[in-house]
Amino acid sequence: MSAQTKVRRKTVTKIRAAKGKAPLVCLTAYTAPIAALADEVADLILVGDSAGMVVHGFENTVPVTLDTMILHGQAVVRVSKRACIVVDMPFGSYEESPEVAYRNASRVMQETGCTAVKLEGGAHMAPTISFLVKRGIPVMAHIGLTPQAVHAMGGFRTSGRCRDEWADVEADAKAVAEAGAFSVVLEGMAEPLAAKITGLVNIPTVGIGASAQCDGQILVIDDLLGLTPKPPSFVKKYADLDEVIREALGRYAEEVRSRAFPALEHTYAVKDEGEAKRA
Ligand code: KIV
Repeated sequence: MSAQTKVRRKTVTKIRAAKGKAPLVCLTAYTAPIAALADEVADLILVGDSAGMVVHGFENTVPVTLDTMILHGQAVVRVSKRACIVVDMPFGSYEESPEVAYRNASRVMQETGCTAVKLEGGAHMAPTISFLVKRGIPVMAHIGLTPQAVHAMGGFRTSGRCRDEWADVEADAKAVAEAGAFSVVLEGMAEPLAAKITGLVNIPTVGIGASAQCDGQILVIDDLLGLTPKPPSFVKKYADLDEVIREALGRYAEEVRSRAFPALEHTYAVKDEGEAKRA
């Protein structure tokens, strides 16, 4: 790329236009160093409220606040240049009314500089999605397993493994697409239902535990890097960073205890007396 070539961030129009073409590569990210790496390969980065679980150690995403999402969103936007950045609306920040959703989503957009927001829910959230989209806030929808409803569902429940559930999930997909969502996450969904929905809606479906039939895939980045102790069964681990980190920390601890670290090259000497190598 020449020095003059300006890197353009992917717009929601580009993401939408990918429907039926090359699969969309989507990842979550929450922090600047990981976001900078994800930005090299991803079409879309989601600043997911999964941050609550993988970064902050909560059992589910319910405790995550708007301020937390804004802080993570700012870090990710700051270091990324190419990917479309979507920030999750946390539990309690959008369900009450379209007006409350607008107030909070516009805050997220203004304070992070992200491209779009994501919210969970199907047909019942369609009026809110439409309200936001008509007022200039692009929305990614999220149906199937919706983790913020963990207490209402009595756990993290997959969707569409019994055929009598299909009609409701299909209605959700149609409703969010008609309301103007630019794409929809299908989470924890049986393959034939994900395939049917992907054929049914004119926006890209982004699957997580929803088979290769979707228009794109997303994974929680800590899961694929091997940083989550017990990732869901649909996760493929592409690295074992926990082992890499454990080994590095073990060596550090050993060298501190044996005084092998810091060595001379990690040590400041007084300037005009130093024949020692400086750090
Ligand atoms: O919060 C998140 O990371 C998500 C993905 C699982 C899609 O919503």
